[in-house]
Amino acid sequence: MSQPDSRPSYLRNWLSLAGTVLGLSAFFAFVLLFAVDTFSHHGNPYMGILTYVVAPGFLLMGLAMVAVGAWMHRKHLREAEPGADLPSLTIDLGRPADQRRLLLFGGGSVAFLLLTAFGSFQTYHYTESVQFCGQVCHTPMKPEFVTYQVSPHAKIECVKCHVGNGAGAYVKAKMNGVHQLVGVITGDYGRPIKPPQNLRPAQDICEQCHWAQREVGKLDRTYTHFLADETNTQFSVRLSLNVGGGNPRGGEPGGIHWHMNLGHKVEYIATGEHRENIPWVRLTDPNGVVTEFTTKDFKGDPSKERVHTMDCMDCHNRPAHRFLSPNDAVDMAMASGKIDPSVPWAKSNVVQVLTAEYATESEALAKIADSLQAHYAGKSGVQTMIAEAQRIYSQNFFPEMKADWRAYPDNVSHKNWAGCFRCHDGLHKTADRKRTLKASDCNSCHVILAQGSGEELEKLNPKGHNFFHLDAEYSDFTCHNCHTGAFPKE
Ligand code: HEC
Ligand code: HEC
Ligand code: HEC
Ligand code: HEC
Ligand code: HEC
Ligand code: HEC
Repeated sequence: MSQPDSRPSYLRNWLSLAGTVLGLSAFFAFVLLFAVDTFSHHGNPYMGILTYVVAPGFLLMGLAMVAVGAWMHRKHLREAEPGADLPSLTIDLGRPADQRRLLLFGGGSVAFLLLTAFGSFQTYHYTESVQFCGQVCHTPMKPEFVTYQVSPHAKIECVKCHVGNGAGAYVKAKMNGVHQLVGVITGDYGRPIKPPQNLRPAQDICEQCHWAQREVGKLDRTYTHFLADETNTQFSVRLSLNVGGGNPRGGEPGGIHWHMNLGHKVEYIATGEHRENIPWVRLTDPNGVVTEFTTKDFKGDPSKERVHTMDCMDCHNRPAHRFLSPNDAVDMAMASGKIDPSVPWAKSNVVQVLTAEYATESEALAKIADSLQAHYAGKSGVQTMIAEAQRIYSQNFFPEMKADWRAYPDNVSHKNWAGCFRCHDGLHKTADRKRTLKASDCNSCHVILAQGSGEELEKLNPKGHNFFHLDAEYSDFTCHNCHTGAFPKE
């Protein structure tokens, strides 16, 4: 300094000095990390945390140490020499040294404020990113992250569905996040992780992008399967699904998308972690007429139970994290030729190796390879089959988290889980037991245009075939009692 200042500096103490060193290091670390984060192309999930959470944290800690050090030092001086003429904290603008300090302090504060504002924005932005949600705590989030990346919503940020709109939702999610972070650090989290109960109402989440009134009409879908026999007999079902919709041009809502809360309201009571049993349903029509449907043995009192309002997620509960059942995954691979359907017992053997018990993914991948090698040693195409089985495993099975199709029922159908049949099984009736829910027969949600394989699949019947199940016609609501996703139970 050109003009020596006669006053003692409160900053000359170890704590403040250490704080200064810490603060400066944190600052330079921030600048460096920021540059790397900005200019590197492949984001690393931990980089963001270091840059926008850890480095500013240490900077603030350094500054706090400087201040606390100065305050303690002043207190110490005062106690050592009571009554001594310690400089007060006045600022004398007449003094060049004070002018300089003020300028430095003011400039510094503004710069720091801008930086923290920017940093907070980046932190906010960062904690909302797919990378943060999906990869930072990668063991617990891996199953959801991997399934998400192959879902129709792969391009949609996690927070669009999981946080919802508004500051309230953000704060709530972050509080939840702190709780989850503690869980991750201490290893205290569910295996598998339970589906969140707070993703509701769908009006606030799904309807940010989807329009409930939209008329979808009929969808033509083919479900191709291969039986677990020696020749992997193909059996396909081609359905015309009557999705219907809101009919915004004036008509009544109808079809499967009739339940869109457009005038009607469907409420229900559910039991089970995944709401798998629904013994009580209440329908309120646009005129306010209320009808209750219950199963025969329902004895509960609706005024005392938790009543849910039906929305998108009661059918589409796995829009972003669909864990394919081994049957479905192998059927798809065989339909697309990635697993050759002419290899004897291919369906049966691949499903078998996928569903064996493994402790870790790497153990599973190794044993899948060994086992298929043993079955098909020397046959051509076995390497492709192994690679495909391993891919299916990595995308749908997560032994470390006990996450696979068994942990997460999918309610949009009725084959492997009750799904629609939780209500539409013909057993939910009004109190006089005279009326069941509409759409409780095989042709009201879809018609079977064709079924079987080869030429049979070309015999289209627009009015719908009766369902031909193996060697008998069939219309029962108990599909999921036998079809469990990995071979039917006998
Ligand atoms: C299109 C909306 C949507 C997006 C995008 C989305 N999720 Fe989900 N997620 C859901 C729904 C719906 C459930 C609840 C399923 C249920 O109730 O069965 C869920 C459940 C979860 C669960 C609980 C476990 C489970 O599988 O039920 C976790 C963890 C999760 N999501 C993480 C993520 C992560 C991480 C991302 C981003 C990489 C993400 N989600 C993106 C809709 C979404
Ligand atoms: C941020 C926007 C956004 C949100 C939020 C969102 N979706 Fe979607 N959703 C999309 C887009 C875009 C597509 C179409 C993807 C495509 O066709 O490539 C889609 C497709 C779908 C499909 C059709 C999937 C298929 O197999 O073709 C369903 C069903 C669906 N969404 C349900 C939901 C549900 C349920 C929620 C709420 C949990 C939700 N979406 C939330 C944007 C969104
Ligand atoms: C009663 C069950 C049910 C409800 C409730 C429901 N859906 Fe669907 N939705 C279906 C079925 C079944 C299909 C057709 C089969 C499929 O996609 O798996 C379908 C198809 C769709 C599709 C694909 C349409 C296309 O053109 O490919 C979208 C998108 C969709 N639903 C979004 C929604 C949204 C958003 C909501 C809530 C506002 C909702 N659904 C409520 C059962 C339902
Ligand atoms: C929580 C119970 C519940 C679930 C689950 C449910 N529904 Fe419904 N659904 C109803 C009720 C209640 C009605 C009105 C019945 C009536 O009017 O008799 C209805 C009506 C329908 C209708 C007739 C609509 C019309 O045009 O009148 C169709 C089609 C339908 N549901 C399809 C489905 C499909 C497909 C699924 C599964 C993806 C499904 N539902 C799941 C409760 C449910
Ligand atoms: C309440 C509506 C509803 C009723 C009633 C209904 N289904 Fe379905 N069904 C569906 C929906 C929705 C899907 C498929 C949705 C998806 O997976 O995309 C489906 C799929 C199917 C499939 C193809 C499944 C597959 O994976 O191969 C068959 C076969 C089928 N239904 C047969 C029947 C038979 C037989 C009955 C009568 C016992 C019946 N359905 C009654 C709604 C219904
Ligand atoms: C009593 C047990 C039982 C019931 C109930 C049952 N199935 Fe099956 N289903 C079987 C068996 C066994 C096979 C032969 C599977 C194989 O060889 O891979 C089969 C095969 C099928 C197939 C072709 C192969 C496959 O793996 O998908 C379809 C599709 C099918 N069933 C649909 C249904 C539907 C839809 C319902 C309900 C309406 C239903 N099944 C009810 C036992 C049952």
